[in-house]
Amino acid sequence: MKVLVDVAKCQGHARCVAVAPDLFTLNPDGYNDQPEWPVPEGQEALARRAVNACPERVLRLSED
Ligand code: F3S
Repeated sequence: MKVLVDVAKCQGHARCVAVAPDLFTLNPDGYNDQPEWPVPEGQEALARRAVNACPERVLRLSED
C-alpha cells in the first residue's frame, strides 16, 4: 500500500503528519510535496486515518 499525494493541492494543514508522523515528512515550507509515500506493513489503518484527516482531500490510498 502507498499514499498518493496531489501535491499541487496541499495547503499545509499538517493534519497528515499530526496523525501519522512516521509516515509523512513535510517540506521546510510545511507542505506535503512528495507524490507518494510507502505504507509499512501494519500501518495501513494509520494511513487510512491520515488520508481521512486531510481537509483538502489531497491524499488517497493505492493498494499497489
Ligand atoms: Fe497537506 Fe493535507 Fe497534509 S493539506 S499538509 S496533505 S493534511
